[in-house]
Amino acid sequence: MAIRYEHIHTCKQSGARLGRLHTPHGVIETPIFMPVGTLATVKTMTPEELADIGSQIILSNTYHLWLRPGNELVKEAGGLHKFMNWDKPILTDSGGFQVFSLQNMRTIEEEGVHFRSHLDGSKLFLSPEKSMKIQHDLGADIIMSFDECAPIPATRDYVKNSLERTTRWAERGLEYHTKSGKDKTQALFGIVQGGEYPDLRKQSAKELTSLDFPGYSIGGLSVGEPKPLMYEMLEETVPYLPESKPRYLMGVGSPDALIEGVIRGIDMFDCVLPTRIARNGTCMTSNGRLVVKNKKYERDFTPLDPNCDCYTCKNYTRAYIRHLFKSNEILGARLTTYHNLYFLLNLMEDVRKAILNDSLLDFKEVFFEAYGLNKE
Ligand code: GUN
Ligand code: ZN
Repeated sequence: MAIRYEHIHTCKQSGARLGRLHTPHGVIETPIFMPVGTLATVKTMTPEELADIGSQIILSNTYHLWLRPGNELVKEAGGLHKFMNWDKPILTDSGGFQVFSLQNMRTIEEEGVHFRSHLDGSKLFLSPEKSMKIQHDLGADIIMSFDECAPIPATRDYVKNSLERTTRWAERGLEYHTKSGKDKTQALFGIVQGGEYPDLRKQSAKELTSLDFPGYSIGGLSVGEPKPLMYEMLEETVPYLPESKPRYLMGVGSPDALIEGVIRGIDMFDCVLPTRIARNGTCMTSNGRLVVKNKKYERDFTPLDPNCDCYTCKNYTRAYIRHLFKSNEILGARLTTYHNLYFLLNLMEDVRKAILNDSLLDFKEVFFEAYGLNKE
């Protein structure tokens, strides 16, 4: 087994889990947020900076690295860790999500998916086995099954067919993975689908858990549906996942959804949200979102978040960072990215402390109030 989940404590107030995930590149304290480095870089951040702010694991993408620079080249460099100079754990997504989100022209067959490159329009084909092969060359500690992320809404028939194919694809990927012997150093997760249908979520979870993966992802959520629906789907899924394995909610990174996910038993999250909004000047602060480009910060010589201890907040003002954005200076995006990631990683550290103290619901109450989430 490439990974092992060690349960530490269950919050008596919320039922949230505190744990440790042992991987070939070190131990991860869960619950955890994983910054996204799609192209083997978390945009604007050096690996040293990522480590400084407490990133324990980062995510990268099979689809993008396959197209450029190519999995063969990354393998030749000694794998993703060496190629990008990051020696802590890495997780790669399977390419399934990108195939379904980046292009319109595609045909799904039992064998795999035909589609076109978002770079040059050339014809491509991705299958469960091919996704495994690419992820083996990349060499991440945790890898994902090739799946279909169905949209919400979609008809019950469509979602049922889709999730059943996703199970068959997961089985094919698992067989390829196990036969290659890579299961000793790379942990393959199954991805639960099932759209907005509770019985289909249950069916998907049961089918995948019978295949005995070392961890389970929950996919097909955070695709534009209302948050209460996502929380309901978590409640319909998590009870069917084994307590001895890690649970990863894909594509979630807003502070409220992270806390609500943890309360429903999730251990791992990833999202481009903090890094993407940072690059257009939006910051997450203890008092809610702050759009630093706004005119009202022109002469504001206070930090982005007065309650934040990060490098950006200790050294720079809103007025200066606004000026950088107004002048299209790249330091602006660097400083806001640094702050947003620090903010979310620090939030997860606070969440872990609250779980250990059996007080996560109290923490949520205080955090939501300050962040402006207690409106309703
Ligand atoms: N990222 C966010 N959602 C998904 C999903 O459903 N599948 C995969 N592979 N990646 C995702
Ligand atoms: Zn800060």
